[in-house]
Amino acid sequence: MTVLLAGGAGYIGSHTAVQLLMSGHDVVIADDYSNSCPEVINRIEEITGKQVRAYETDVKDKVKVQQIFAENKIDCVIHFAGLKAVGESVQQPLKYYRNNIDTTLTLLECMQEAGVKQFVFSSSATVYGEENAIPYIETMKRGSCSNPYGWTKVMMEEILEGAAKADPELTVVLLRYFNPIGAHESGRIGEDPQGIPNNLMPYIAQVAVGRRDHLTIFGNDYPTPDGTCRRDYIHVMDLADGHVKAVEYAAQHKGVEVFNLGTGTPYSVLEIVHAFENATGVAIKHEFGARRAGDLPEFWANADKAAKALGWKAERDLTAMCRDTWRWQSGNPEGYRK
Ligand code: WQD
Repeated sequence: MTVLLAGGAGYIGSHTAVQLLMSGHDVVIADDYSNSCPEVINRIEEITGKQVRAYETDVKDKVKVQQIFAENKIDCVIHFAGLKAVGESVQQPLKYYRNNIDTTLTLLECMQEAGVKQFVFSSSATVYGEENAIPYIETMKRGSCSNPYGWTKVMMEEILEGAAKADPELTVVLLRYFNPIGAHESGRIGEDPQGIPNNLMPYIAQVAVGRRDHLTIFGNDYPTPDGTCRRDYIHVMDLADGHVKAVEYAAQHKGVEVFNLGTGTPYSVLEIVHAFENATGVAIKHEFGARRAGDLPEFWANADKAAKALGWKAERDLTAMCRDTWRWQSGNPEGYRK
């Protein structure tokens, strides 16, 4: 199949591109490089030995996206072209609503015009909101979010469900990611946040490589075994494999289907710090600070549905997640920028 990856040069998109190519699919990438860079395309080609067709475009630019559909016989679209910084979304909500919703609508309209019927969406565990009990399972209702980023994911799920209801030929697979970390085993692609990292693992990696002095752990008075928050961290290569399964599933099924992509096992912030130190031999200077607004004490996935329906299960353990993060960060201390 030929798969269009909107936002395919980003962290999750680039790893998915590699696994799609390695599974024999063709990949077309549309990305404005606002949170990535063209070097990613070279690295994907280097790892796979295969060619990628890349378009530099804002996915809200309908004329350009129409051109991509006209020039390529696309079978399936995966939408990764979202803004994702939780804190920034509180400061600049309109930017988040405009970007995340407009990109989704543009892709859906262009797919409709081109007769493309398979859509896989980068959703998030954040849509379970604050009300649901853990572990999260796909049959739960979406909850209410503490920030506009999360609301855009809820709204995009609603939009996609509505579009699928109106067009019985349309297939929509909603993939709810838990906490993706790690990098490709080669260390040639990985997570490259601009500015100060918002997320835990890239922050730890930058402390390890000497770009930051120390990690501040946001709160150690949570009702968890060691007082720090617990999350379901998943290796980005397992997540990428989940997308390959989702694309293949979409080709065989109609309607909307939701899948959690997590491991089902939570780790605390302190456990992550210690696992990183053990896997790499690098000490991570850390101190405890105040809680971060909006953080839930703990959540993890019930991952049974993806195992049953997609035949997918996370295979890589926490040691691999830490080791591969470090291989990427130590080999590319400044990320893709030389
Ligand atoms: C994990 C844990 C922090 C940084 C968010 C979004 C989610 C998804 C991923 C984005 C928490 C703690 C972190 C630091 C710390 N979306 N932490 N010091 O908050 O679970 O999920 O990012 O793309 O939708 O909500 O992930 O990595 O930010 O935090 O102590 O410097 O690490 O408090 O407990 P989170 P995270």
